[in-house]
Amino acid sequence: MSFTVAIDGPAAAGKGTLSKAVSKHFGFAHLDTGLLYRAVGAKVAEGQDPFRAAEELVPEDLLRPDLRTLGAGQAASRVAALPSVRVALVDFQRRFALAPEGAVLDGRDIGTVICPQAEVKLFVTASAEVRAHRRWLEVGGDEAQVLAEVRERDERDMNRADAPLRPAPDAHLLDTSELSIDEAVAQAIDLIAAKRG
Ligand code: CDP
Repeated sequence: MSFTVAIDGPAAAGKGTLSKAVSKHFGFAHLDTGLLYRAVGAKVAEGQDPFRAAEELVPEDLLRPDLRTLGAGQAASRVAALPSVRVALVDFQRRFALAPEGAVLDGRDIGTVICPQAEVKLFVTASAEVRAHRRWLEVGGDEAQVLAEVRERDERDMNRADAPLRPAPDAHLLDTSELSIDEAVAQAIDLIAAKRG
C-alpha cells in the first residue's frame, strides 16, 4: 500500500530540506518536482520545444549540474505556466507517488492537482524576506536581487491559470519564518507519524 506526503509552498520556503529529512526518517522515496520544471526550462533555453522537452524528459536530465541557479528557477517558472508542459509531467509524478515504501513529493501543486488523495499534505511557507535570505545564503550575489527574483517567481506561480500555487483545503500550514530546521522537521514528523498510526 502506498503512503504519500505532499509538500507544497513558495520558492525557498524550506520544502527541499524538510522533504529530505522526512523521507530519510520514514524511509520514503523523495521526488523534488521542481527539478522536472527546472530541467524542462533548461532544455527550452537551449532551443527545444517546451512540450517535447517535457514529454521526452528522462530521470538523468534531473542530474544536470546547472539546475539550481536563479536563472534556471526563472526558466522553470515560465515553462511551468504552460498547461501542455504540466500535463506531460503528471504521469511520472503520480507513478512516483505509488512507491511501495511510501513517497514524499515536494512542489507547488502536489496536494491540489498531482496527489489530491495524499495521506498528508503540508503547505510550507515563510516571509519573502526570510526565504530570499535563505536562497541568498545558497547562491550568493546581491541579496536585493534574490528577493526581487523570489517575489517575481511567487507572483507568477500564484497567478497562473493552470495549477496555481495555493494550499489544498486540507493542508497543514507550516510557517517556518521563526522555526529552525530541526523544529520544522520535528513538527512535520509528528504530523506524519500521527497519520500513519
Ligand atoms: O526550490 P524552489 O522552491 O526555489 O523552486 P522549485 O521547487 O525547484 O521550483 C521551480 C519552479 O518550478 C517554481 O517556481 C514553479 O514555477 C515550478 N514548479 C511548479 O510549477 N510545480 C511544481 N510541482 C514544482 C515546481
